[in-house]
Amino acid sequence: MKKALVTGITGQDGSYLAELLLSKDYQVHGIIRRSASFNTDRIEHLYRDPHDPEARLFLHYGDLTDGTCLRRLLHRVQPDEVYNLGAQSHVKISFEQPGYTADVDALGTLRLLEAVHDHLSATGKPVRFYQAGSSEMFGASPPPQTENTPFYPRSPYAVSKVAAHWFGVNYREAYGMFVANGILFNHESPRRGETFVTRKITRAACRIKEGLQDQLFLGNLDAKRDWGFAGDYVEAMWRLLQHDTPDTFVVATGEAHTVREFVEAVFEKLGLDWKKSVAVDKRYFRPTEVDSLCGDATKARKVLGWKPQVGFDALVTMMVDHDRELARQEKTLRAAGHEPTTRGSTHG
Ligand code: NAP
Ligand code: GDD
Repeated sequence: MKKALVTGITGQDGSYLAELLLSKDYQVHGIIRRSASFNTDRIEHLYRDPHDPEARLFLHYGDLTDGTCLRRLLHRVQPDEVYNLGAQSHVKISFEQPGYTADVDALGTLRLLEAVHDHLSATGKPVRFYQAGSSEMFGASPPPQTENTPFYPRSPYAVSKVAAHWFGVNYREAYGMFVANGILFNHESPRRGETFVTRKITRAACRIKEGLQDQLFLGNLDAKRDWGFAGDYVEAMWRLLQHDTPDTFVVATGEAHTVREFVEAVFEKLGLDWKKSVAVDKRYFRPTEVDSLCGDATKARKVLGWKPQVGFDALVTMMVDHDRELARQEKTLRAAGHEPTTRGSTHG
């Protein structure tokens, strides 16, 4: 049985990746942060009591800012594959917390690579490492972006991801480590964090439809993104680590839409006129914006045989259906006199 160690397992991608790996009979070890409130909602359905002989998902407390605990966990778990998905992943928030973002996203990757390198030297046991790179690294470089497009990062988040990317490449070249670098374009799902634009839109539009909210405030409606489905993208991560040689791959759909087009598609699906409910608020603008991302994933198609299964319309439908159901449940609870908390809709 193969063993995988996953940072960021409680996030959107971590939860889909854990599902995929469990379906492939891996033993999965996830690193979770201690939090005053539960942060394991996305993986609750996968978790079993560790005393259960059938349990194959194990959670360990740890943090990318704590190199000692990363070393200890590598030693304890002895993984075959490490997926480094943990990050402060919100671009706008990285302007407010640049130091923390760099510590987790750039130095955190370095700490984990160092721990894997030392573990390799001590045990001789090969470990394959996946680094979660981002299309944000291309930033101001115009589309279509490929593996050969120069990086031009436009936020502390993106600069940190560029550093992490090059740490990975350097450990590959310097020590012959198997470090595979994914450069993934935006990918979404019903499990997307509520302050990323797609989920912010689908949640708000569904609440507007159910009479729970009147308005939705957004930032730059002209930005273009290449949006895919997270479930497809974790399959690409896994394929990167099954390939014979460690390499860098762009993972994208090759189709881009503006934020305005995403809004239109969502409101149209709900039979609503978006212009009546959506207003622009400059607080959601970024000091430096990434205007246009559209990836060319030809290399991943040819070398890994990967291609996305879920297109733009199916993604919008999936997210709207999910959030419509949540809004209906909220309405029922409110009608019965309960006051459910509505989280985070005004942030990010
Ligand atoms: P996400 O939903 O924001 O999840 C991030 C995960 O990282 C969470 O599990 C979070 O834990 C964890 N984390 C945050 N700070 C940490 C720390 N100091 N130590 C350890 N773990 C920490 O992000 P995602 O969308 O799943 O993305 C996964 C990875 O892919 C990230 O590295 C992201 O930057 C990158 N990426 C994402 C996309 C995309 O479109 N989704 C595209 C390209 C690259 P908590 O649950 O406790 O907060
Ligand atoms: N979050 C947010 N909130 N974004 C908004 C809003 C708003 O109210 N209004 C407009 N936008 C625009 C942003 O300015 C950006 O151009 C675009 O919508 C997408 O924003 P996000 O959904 O926050 O994602 P992102 O593209 O900045 O970053 C995501 O994708 C990256 C890959 O390209 C994150 O998942 C990153 O972690 C990931 O690396």
